Amino acid sequence: MTHSPWPRRLRFSRRELLNASARWAGAGMLAGALPEALRGAQVRDFVVPGKERMIVRSLRYLDLETPPHLLDSWLTPVDLFYVRNHLAQPSVNLEAWRLEVTGEVERPLELTLEELEKFEPGTVTNTLECAGNGRALFRPRIAGIQWVRGAVGTGRFSGPRLGDLLRRVALKAGAKHVVFDGLDEPPGEVPDFRRSIPIEKALDKDTLVATRMNGAPLTIEHGYPARALVPGWLGAASVKWLVEICVLDQEYDGFFMKPGYRFPRRAVVPGGTVSPEQTEVITSLVVKSIITRPGDGSHHAPGPVRITGAAWSGENDITRVDVSTDGGRTWQPASLGRDAAKYAWRLWEHTWTPPEPGTYTVMSRAIDSAGRTQPQTAQWNPSGYLWNAIEKVRIYVEA
Ligand code: MTE
Repeated sequence: MTHSPWPRRLRFSRRELLNASARWAGAGMLAGALPEALRGAQVRDFVVPGKERMIVRSLRYLDLETPPHLLDSWLTPVDLFYVRNHLAQPSVNLEAWRLEVTGEVERPLELTLEELEKFEPGTVTNTLECAGNGRALFRPRIAGIQWVRGAVGTGRFSGPRLGDLLRRVALKAGAKHVVFDGLDEPPGEVPDFRRSIPIEKALDKDTLVATRMNGAPLTIEHGYPARALVPGWLGAASVKWLVEICVLDQEYDGFFMKPGYRFPRRAVVPGGTVSPEQTEVITSLVVKSIITRPGDGSHHAPGPVRITGAAWSGENDITRVDVSTDGGRTWQPASLGRDAAKYAWRLWEHTWTPPEPGTYTVMSRAIDSAGRTQPQTAQWNPSGYLWNAIEKVRIYVEA
């Protein structure tokens, strides 16, 4: 028998990768498209208990988007928090559930939820955003879940610090990456959802094995009983329904690391292709703002219009948000909300009185502590990740 470099549940990753690459080449599967029969408007007619106000983007594997006007609070209530599942949501039997910490460690560990909760918890208020948020806005269009603005939300997560677990198992000298595996199992030969992060981010005091969200135990949609919480990074890093944390001596190379969730190193001609070798793993989110009100296409009586939104920038802070009401010719600073935390978005608002009836393009542009400004156009990429072009909505002011 040949020795496998991947412990336990991770053993078949290379074979899976080969099979998967052959079968699912391209971005369509990654984005989890709807079955043909469910495509179209009728999917909006379904409701998911507890998530009734959400836009249903997929029922095959649950994908729910928050309507932008409901993203109006600093902490997003759980019933309004977007859901992104690549596979069928698992059911969890807590009696049998264990979290293993394995791999390049001196003393592998297996914990029940009760044992996990004995670790001193950390708490992080984090804006979680799916890398595919805004995919629907790219032109030419990109196959996959057509997220517009609402695959994002801010939650207060708490649970043991991943670093404390890693110190308990004692890392071996070669420990370089930590791969997370969840309980969701792929059908047939579809690759499993596993993602790794570098050991430095794993040991950061704000990286958690979260068991609670907004003060309550995680719900099943958000990864009960425990999920990784990798603050400031793309949502995909925060693996749900955690059952194994495996320390590796190299970056994990499963499907959802390569070709999945990667961004071209250099600009790609819109509609063009790029090989995985010309891409890099996505880590931190990018600088971005959205307008939560007024709604795109909304009609307004004469008088003041309150423009509100949210802005975030992964591991950086938001320092300013500007608003334009004349299609980008002039910009005024918006007021930033008082609530702030290292990895959380800032709410912002600006009140403007339209000078006369007509059609207006309202825009917002965020600037962060690293000096990055939301760009005029988002960099087109074949999977439709990291849309962050200056936000625009069109409104009609009646006579
Ligand atoms: N973890 C598992 N096990 N399976 C998944 O499909 N989806 C990831 C991540 N963790 C996923 C997962 C993606 S792509 C995102 S954006 C976030 O979970 C979404 O987290 P949420 O559904 O709690 O909002």
